[in-house]
Amino acid sequence: MDQPPLDMDVYRNPPDVDHLELEPGHPGLGDGGYIRRRHALFAACRAARLLGQPPPVIDYTDEEERIWRQVAPRLDALHVRHASRVYLDAKRELKISEDRIPQLRALSERLRQVSGMHLVPAEGPIAYRTFYSYIADRGFPVTQFIRHGSKPEFTPEPDMIHDCLGHVPPLLNPDYASLLTLIGRAAVTVPTGDQVLALKRLSWFSIEFGLIEQEGETKVFGAGILSSIGEIPNSLFSKDVERRPFRTAEVIETDYDSSRMQDLLFVIPSLGFLKHEVETLVGRFGVPLNRDTAMGG
Ligand SMILES: [Fe+2]
Repeated sequence: MDQPPLDMDVYRNPPDVDHLELEPGHPGLGDGGYIRRRHALFAACRAARLLGQPPPVIDYTDEEERIWRQVAPRLDALHVRHASRVYLDAKRELKISEDRIPQLRALSERLRQVSGMHLVPAEGPIAYRTFYSYIADRGFPVTQFIRHGSKPEFTPEPDMIHDCLGHVPPLLNPDYASLLTLIGRAAVTVPTGDQVLALKRLSWFSIEFGLIEQEGETKVFGAGILSSIGEIPNSLFSKDVERRPFRTAEVIETDYDSSRMQDLLFVIPSLGFLKHEVETLVGRFGVPLNRDTAMGG
């Protein structure tokens, strides 16, 4: 159910780069320069990924740097107040700048030294099973293109701001890296659609859209919230958002809609709690623990 037929799997049969199309409603539609740039980055990242190379070093344009400088400081001001310590400590240690777009190759090298994770160049969204097979191998797929400059606060697809300012920092944390790779191994191992769905929901309500308790306060944990100027205050303060304690049995039965602002979130008691819950769930699915997890790393 979750695996496309082989001839439909774009990652086994990548489309010609000239056929890359922006989705309807994308702010970059009709901007020939933006589309040409996307094609060039698509080709460079896909070639590096398929050859097993690290992220290519990108010479970012003035316009791309401008978009970064417009969004990154505003996100950082929100991170200082509202992000979890797991995220914030790692972001500072990685020295991610608000002034310049970081090179993913350098971030990848730093991650490898500290937590044994690395970054995989991704031309765009990657098929579920392919994505998790990289994660199972301690790689995290990341894009290197940036949203369109006409709407710097909005992107209809995961771009470098989402990946780099949402997903990358916590990969530096060994416990986070351990639970993530365990989800990855489980996702490519479990045999049934129900188990795959449970893992997708667990991941959505934690890695992507989780909140976390920290010294009596609720902080932002998930990358989807951390990379959005609108979602950070919405997730914590909106009356339209219901915040429930993270109970795994309930989380894996709860549907989500990725196409709109989230109105139901779960609050994780701690990173240690989440790691324990992931280990218990995948153990129930019959997936052996990572060697580093089994040793208590
Ligand atoms: Fe994401």
